[in-house]
Amino acid sequence: MTSPAPARIGIVTVSDRASRGEYQDLGGPAVRAYFQEVLASPWEAVERVIPDEQPLIEATLRELCDVQGCSLVVTTGGTGPAPRDVTPEATEAVIHKKMEGFGERMRQVSLQKGVPTAILSRQIAGVRGQSLIVNLPGKPKAIAECLDAILPAVPYCIDLIGGAFLETHPERCVAFRPK
Ligand code: MTE
Repeated sequence: MTSPAPARIGIVTVSDRASRGEYQDLGGPAVRAYFQEVLASPWEAVERVIPDEQPLIEATLRELCDVQGCSLVVTTGGTGPAPRDVTPEATEAVIHKKMEGFGERMRQVSLQKGVPTAILSRQIAGVRGQSLIVNLPGKPKAIAECLDAILPAVPYCIDLIGGAFLETHPERCVAFRPK
């Protein structure tokens, strides 16, 4: 019996300065470390570090979904109110269905954790074909806070769109699959 191909997860750091090498990308590695800890099924990362340029973000998201076959694409950075923050606009332009609950839940949990500036993130999520795209803020601390808030619903969402079957370590996260 052959085992199924590993799920592919796109990890996109959106940052002018990280893409120019002016500082080390901490967001992408934090997303990768999170999935290494929480996912029990085989997966592989497809990673990109790009500047805050909307056409490039859109092209990268399309490539990760349509060419690389990522079931999940997570972006980090560019969700705030600053002039160069355009990750949500780029995401909105490429998704076929917006999934409002993800952004609502991430901001709600972050606020409950005592982060009043959580409302400054315009992070969204949506479905493109068989891929779920989720925006996260750029701060490494925000990454685990936000992923913890949504991950229980992610594997079932990806089941419903025909993506890879993701399993989690139950002591870290119980993936909810309604019977
Ligand atoms: N959410 C969580 N959970 N933790 C955080 O520290 N930082 C906020 C917010 N969301 C934060 C958070 C801040 S300070 C900003 S400006 C916005 O995310 C946008 O961040 P970004 O532009 O790096 O995406």
